[in-house]
Amino acid sequence: MSTVATTVESGATALRLDPVQAADAMLLAAGAYWPLDGFMGERDYRGVLRDLRLDGGQLFPLPIVLAVPDDLQAGPGDALTLLTPHGGELLMEVHERFRRKRQWEAYAVYRTADASHPGVARLMREGDDCLAGPVRVLQYGQPTYPEPWTPADTRRLITERGWRKVVAFQTRNPLHRAHEHLLRLALESVDGLLLHPLVGPTKGDDVPAVTRMDCYRVTLTAFFPHVRVLLGVFPAAMRYAGPREALFHALVRHNYGASHFVVGRDAAGIGDVYDPDEAREMVERYAEEIGIVPVGFPPVGYCPRCDGFVSSRTCPHRTQWLELSGTALRTMLQRGENPPKELVRPEIAAILRRYYRSEG
Ligand code: ADX
Repeated sequence: MSTVATTVESGATALRLDPVQAADAMLLAAGAYWPLDGFMGERDYRGVLRDLRLDGGQLFPLPIVLAVPDDLQAGPGDALTLLTPHGGELLMEVHERFRRKRQWEAYAVYRTADASHPGVARLMREGDDCLAGPVRVLQYGQPTYPEPWTPADTRRLITERGWRKVVAFQTRNPLHRAHEHLLRLALESVDGLLLHPLVGPTKGDDVPAVTRMDCYRVTLTAFFPHVRVLLGVFPAAMRYAGPREALFHALVRHNYGASHFVVGRDAAGIGDVYDPDEAREMVERYAEEIGIVPVGFPPVGYCPRCDGFVSSRTCPHRTQWLELSGTALRTMLQRGENPPKELVRPEIAAILRRYYRSEG
């Protein structure tokens, strides 16, 4: 959670952001969340919770708010310096202060108020008071990855490659063979693939982004034509908000220059909170309004009988597919064992094994 820091020389109060807030602030300032350019005020917040719309009517699926400590003395007309954990600094013009409705927010966004959901747990840790207003960057701080992270840089690279149709792929996982299958299918009908992993804060048992980035680099370099792929990063936090977050991911990728967006089984989901088809249906419903072509997939997997990657639409042997839960895969890798190469490439298994073993 944010904490109040000392007053800086300019006279503006400084607020230390936590990693989730810092990611949102930087991405807002970079235009990644357009049409939103600042932390939401109450009318936008209520509109988004009620019917996925900002006060002006534009589609926006997630509340992006800045919760602040109750004792922070700041309100309309004030300027705040926002400090990020990576040495970045932003200036916020405070337009409004309001109290959020946390129960309503939990049900509207996550469909549950159960604190075992990481999004709900965070919401319950935060306070009710929120500040709204636009932000601009004073100092970027340490870059975490060499890959492009702003919409402007990513769009420039897409233009340089001469791509007109670009499919973006959101992921928070290392690339397994099922993901790779989706990437290949999606790439068949467009000019280029933007592999766009979310690299901001994720829940504790997800593989950390630095390790995943090694997986993505290895997969793209070794198994894809380099002229057809671009690796960028999306430094936002994962919310695990299922359908709403999948729609948010699609909207954001349009801002990064994608014309198409992959959405498959239980995108942005967690456990069995959401129906596995819902995220895809949500993106398909609003795709035209966002200006993106949805590339939707049913569950895909490896079928030993068909001897290849198939989907529930193309294969009648669903119960025979090779499957490994995340927990079982982790246990195998921790023990130094090799998962089936039909599920995880040996090159990727080696990276993950190193990570799990270093964890102890
Ligand atoms: S996400 O939380 O970032 O959306 P993940 O990294 O697991 O999830 O998946 C990235 C994308 O691939 C999502 O669109 C997801 O629905 C899709 N996906 C992953 N595995 C499968 C699968 N076996 N079948 C169909 N779609 C899948």
